[in-house]
Amino acid sequence: MRRPFIAGNWKMNLDRAGAVALAAAVAEKSRGLENVDLAIFPPSVYLDAVRGAVAGSRLAYGAQNMSDQPNGALTGEISAAMLVDLGCRYVILGHSERRHILGETNADVHKKTLAALAANLVPIVCVGEQLAEREAGRTGEVIREQFAGSLGNLSAEQIGRVVIAYEPVWAIGTGKVATPQQAEDVHKDLRKILADRYNASIAQAIRIQYGGSVKASNAAELLAQENIDGALVGGASLKADEFLGIVAGVRR
Ligand code: PGA
Repeated sequence: MRRPFIAGNWKMNLDRAGAVALAAAVAEKSRGLENVDLAIFPPSVYLDAVRGAVAGSRLAYGAQNMSDQPNGALTGEISAAMLVDLGCRYVILGHSERRHILGETNADVHKKTLAALAANLVPIVCVGEQLAEREAGRTGEVIREQFAGSLGNLSAEQIGRVVIAYEPVWAIGTGKVATPQQAEDVHKDLRKILADRYNASIAQAIRIQYGGSVKASNAAELLAQENIDGALVGGASLKADEFLGIVAGVRR
């Protein structure tokens, strides 16, 4: 059984006090929720403050990005070991904003994934097509390319420690959520890609989150799909009650 996993990607939002307050509220309101994994992804400068705010709770946290290098002359970068040092369990890699606004390639995402795994972080690796690609009927091809370039070279042991997030770019921050069927189709495809590249038991074990305009009012029908194992939530993760409303949509 795949354990549901709901993650909140705060992106470049909030200040220190706001981050601490939100983290503390989510930690408090999620007390007693045993059947789901929960994690928040604050801006990296607030990770240490968030660590204090969630201490003693079962709310995990991680970073939105990291360097593929362990240390050195890389101004402005943050290594996997630094994130581990701050108590991070997860790191989001290859988010579409990094791919399409900041120019990250599949090769970059691949190197970062290896670096995260080497440090024992759990990477949430994002894939997803752009609107023009979907309209041209290229969704399957794009997902396959991103999977092959970002994850295809991992060993079976390594892929088993990865979480995949399917995030159609046209649904991110737009309020235009994929229909449960559109999302389920791609999740099923991803499981087939995993089965072809690795094997059926790996394909069944790996968690695949959906992301793109998930909110409390649409979460339950997305999470009810057989192959959707959780959500990567942006905007709706910035309010504790809305985020917990999404968590409430997890199938019991
Ligand atoms: P959104 O963002 O929920 O605001 O659409 C999702 C994401 O970028 O992970």
